[in-house]
Amino acid sequence: MSGNRTFTMIKPDAVADGYIGAILSQINDRGFKIVALKYTKLSTEKAGEFYAVHSARPFYRELVDFMSSGPIVAAILEKENAVEDFRKLIGATNPAEAAPGTIRAKFAKNIGENAVHGSDSDDNAAIESSFHFSGTEIFN
Ligand code: CMP
Repeated sequence: MSGNRTFTMIKPDAVADGYIGAILSQINDRGFKIVALKYTKLSTEKAGEFYAVHSARPFYRELVDFMSSGPIVAAILEKENAVEDFRKLIGATNPAEAAPGTIRAKFAKNIGENAVHGSDSDDNAAIESSFHFSGTEIFN
């Protein structure tokens, strides 16, 4: 059975470009309820830990440097079938391949600076949510 929560970050590129409001608005309009929200900045250590699953990839260092380069918005989103529906809303990792109207098609620069993160499974949504939020920071 699919879960009803996913985790997202609005990445440093989209924050710097002034897209926080537009992206949160698109998330709301698609029927996701924001149950946790934080404006924060990752240290290089924390970014490395968050993306440790990609540590063997050639882009890992670039990814960690980028994700710790400026503030981000972290959020937990609630909706039926949240992980899959949110990945549809954000579009393909590479914005050049993202469907028109998706968040990445509208706001991302390239495959590295791609505006938003979305969990790829229910298990990772739970892990990533608890990486950023404690129980007292989540509201139903
Ligand atoms: P995200 O959904 O946050 O998950 C892993 C991230 O790695 C991904 O979005 C991209 O930002 C980044 N990424 C994936 N592939 C590449 C690549 N080929 N070059 C640079 N960054 C990448």
